[in-house]
Amino acid sequence: MTKNLIIYYSRRGQNYVNGEIVDLPVGNTEVIVNFIRECIDADTFQVETVKDYPEDYMETTEIAQQELDDDARPELKNELNDISQYDTIIIASPNWWGTLPMALFTQLEKLDFTGKTVKTVITHEGSGLGDAMDDIEKLCRGADIREGLKIHGAEVQDSKGMIERWIE
Ligand SMILES: Cc1cc2nc3c(=O)[nH]c(=O)nc-3n(C[C@H](O)[C@H](O)[C@H](O)COP(=O)(O)O)c2cc1C
Repeated sequence: MTKNLIIYYSRRGQNYVNGEIVDLPVGNTEVIVNFIRECIDADTFQVETVKDYPEDYMETTEIAQQELDDDARPELKNELNDISQYDTIIIASPNWWGTLPMALFTQLEKLDFTGKTVKTVITHEGSGLGDAMDDIEKLCRGADIREGLKIHGAEVQDSKGMIERWIE
């Protein structure tokens, strides 16, 4: 049987949805992760930074932009070192400034993706996948990287059917 691992990042709290700041009790990407787990057996690993981002959305975007400009590698609470027992790695992430949050760079570049299948789902507020797939190509060398799925933040709650078809 195929062994699946979901590696994801998601930030609860203030976010920008359809042009408005709203407070998300569960982050958009985490909603998707929960749907994936209803469709397939999968272990999960949540990437979390030691330093929390501010509650405020705009402040978070400013810090995130600086991290992208600096090509930063934010420190993580826990790091995954070994994915050898898994066949398929599902990467679930928000689009931050056109790519993955830098915390996912910290995590993904530590792993050996040789021979793995990688499926990516990105939630976004208009930019779709952006450059995320180009960065995943670089971060997950040696993997069979499948076409990414993009889901608009405002539509995550209605996306279970789409997730079901994509994950098969
Ligand atoms: C720091 C930051 C940067 C963002 N940059 C973009 C962006 O460049 N393009 C875009 O479409 N959405 C952007 N967004 C919106 C998120 O991608 C979107 O709200 C996503 O669904 C959030 O997922 P989460 O709730 O799981 O963290 C950004 C959000 C944050 C917090």
